[in-house]
Amino acid sequence: MASDIKLNAVRDYVYTIFNDDPTGHDFFHMKRVARMARFIAGKEGSDLFICEAAGWVHDIGDRKMFSNRTNALEQLDNFLQSIDCTADEISAIQVAVENVSFSKGRTPGGLEGRIVQDADRLDAIGAIGVARTFAFGGAKGQLLWHDSEEKREGTSIQHFYDKLLNLKRLMHTRTAKQLAEERHRFIEMYLQQFFKEWQ
Ligand code: ADP
Ligand code: NI
Repeated sequence: MASDIKLNAVRDYVYTIFNDDPTGHDFFHMKRVARMARFIAGKEGSDLFICEAAGWVHDIGDRKMFSNRTNALEQLDNFLQSIDCTADEISAIQVAVENVSFSKGRTPGGLEGRIVQDADRLDAIGAIGVARTFAFGGAKGQLLWHDSEEKREGTSIQHFYDKLLNLKRLMHTRTAKQLAEERHRFIEMYLQQFFKEWQ
């Protein structure tokens, strides 16, 4: 099967899994990460097919959404085999997504994994990042922010300080560092405006 046909099949598979997730992990997050991973791969001289495919499937098996991680990964493996991905391709995809999640706090070993992690992190900053943060907060019933310092933990604005403002420094590739600049400035501006209105 040609790689573009395989990628279309992966896209359709991912659609059936994530299409209605309300916590910022919907199908279009997967699509943006897949496209961004492919773009970065092109700039950084990495494998376009592996990076895009890994971008599509990077959140499959995440414990926040899947009660049975092993099962979800096994199903993915079977699916990739069914569309004629080679054993080498499947293991490269698995390696690339293994340590992507921010919550694990790990850095993927290979370039392909770093690219997918960068693409995922770029989707957490900028205007999309702001939108996803409040979508997540809404889905979990979080407050936007709190007047008293001791009650700010677990608010959506606190999440900017706990995670989002750190992501720019944590980018691995030159391409992602460049893209992160504008998105980082945007969230800084956003916070400034938020507090101006909050007072
Ligand atoms: P991943 O595990 O795919 O790296 P997360 O599940 O941590 O991503 O986050 C998904 C989206 O929800 C991101 O945009 C992230 O910034 C946002 N998010 C995660 N945790 C919180 C939180 N406690 N409050 C607000 N937004 C959050
Ligand atoms: Ni993700």
